[in-house]
Amino acid sequence: MNNRTSFATAMLRKKPIDSDLQRDTGLRRALGAWDLTLLGIGAIIGAGVFVLSGIAAATQAGPAVALSFVVSGIACAFTALAYAELAAAIGGCGSAYGYAYAGFGELIAWLIGWDLILEYSLAVSVVAIGWSGYVNNALASVGLDLPRTLLRGPAEGGIVDLPAAGIILILAGLLIIGVRESARFNAAIVFVKLAAIGTFMVVALFHVNPANWTPFMPFGWGGVMGGAALVFFAYIGFDAVSTAAEETRNPQRDLPIGIITSLSVCTIVYIIVGILLTGIAPYQTLNVASPVSEALLNAGVRWAAAVVAAGAIAGLTSVMLVMFYGQTRIFFAMSRDGLLPAIFSHLNVKTHTPVKVIAVCGVCMAAIAGFAPISTVAELVNIGTLAAFVLVSAGVVALRYQQPELKRPFRTPLSPLITLLGILSCLYLMLNLQRLTWLGFLIWTILGLIIYFGFSRRRSVLASEVS
Ligand code: ALA
Repeated sequence: MNNRTSFATAMLRKKPIDSDLQRDTGLRRALGAWDLTLLGIGAIIGAGVFVLSGIAAATQAGPAVALSFVVSGIACAFTALAYAELAAAIGGCGSAYGYAYAGFGELIAWLIGWDLILEYSLAVSVVAIGWSGYVNNALASVGLDLPRTLLRGPAEGGIVDLPAAGIILILAGLLIIGVRESARFNAAIVFVKLAAIGTFMVVALFHVNPANWTPFMPFGWGGVMGGAALVFFAYIGFDAVSTAAEETRNPQRDLPIGIITSLSVCTIVYIIVGILLTGIAPYQTLNVASPVSEALLNAGVRWAAAVVAAGAIAGLTSVMLVMFYGQTRIFFAMSRDGLLPAIFSHLNVKTHTPVKVIAVCGVCMAAIAGFAPISTVAELVNIGTLAAFVLVSAGVVALRYQQPELKRPFRTPLSPLITLLGILSCLYLMLNLQRLTWLGFLIWTILGLIIYFGFSRRRSVLASEVS
């Protein structure tokens, strides 16, 4: 085989479908539809609604931030249907990475996996920093002030954000203990955060001042769209549900239910929160670290502000947990396929969890959360995720043509129209992100290509089968 042929063969080689769906991977099949829905809500409701909603309202959309949530929600709904179809038909713990491997071939699969690593790692680190801010505010309100240098990274005049790094290491320990235990912990925490949001809604309803909604769109439609690109972060996480395919008892039935139900619940919650938040406070006052609880505080309802702050801390914790879980499973899948070193798919015999990968990821993400100037990097999470979403939707269309006979327990309705709308809406949101974000994304992609062509292409398990 000459060099050019082997290059093309490597990039286009595909994994046969259904090789993953019910095989015994050593992971425990412990999760059902209900667990997956909670896993989704656990991943979805977090820093996006508790922090970014206020920033988006103050700087981009004004009271129309609820519309920003609608726009992003629609883009995610299209993509969620694509995820549901592929998760049920293809399965595997690699999520979008695995679907691309079956539909598009190895290079695109690698690039998606590489994007998902960016999404999950940076999301965990960003949320950890938000968590640290909420915890710090809560401690300060009871008179416990930690030294400022231990609450901020070097870029913001501190030494290390210790709580942010610490919480990631604690969650790593939890994931090492085992998925069933972690899912239980997650379920408990999801109820706490939904209760907090419920409290906000009921209390806010009685403190709305309709004058706050005028002007409704101070920055026009451009602001609404910019806001949508920002609050897109709030929806990230429903895709993490699909990474649990190999630990799900009946993935073909339960994955679509888990993905669609969790996204629907969160979309409704976000729109209501957006309307009420800008109803109880002038939108200009919401550019703060904890807008939802501060709005209640300013409305004079101290107890409710405390309840919401506690719920936010719980909410951010569960987001980190599920994102972290999803990230280790992506590594696991890519390593099992030979695209990443074998250490990433080694399962511990006692806990049945990939202890080494959890430990390595935990230390890296804790370092990013503790030291990196994370604020400018946060948008990278959105662009990486949106790029993966575009490819997932494209994968649905491609597979419908390539393998029309494939058994699809769930089918995206009105295909390919809905799927194409998914692609276009995600691309549109990407275009609303900053130039710097695009640059960072480009660098990350080039780095990924270097690793693929330098390491993964030759070590790929499929390489030995194809050649
Ligand atoms: N959707 C998650 C959050 O808002 C990432 O924190």
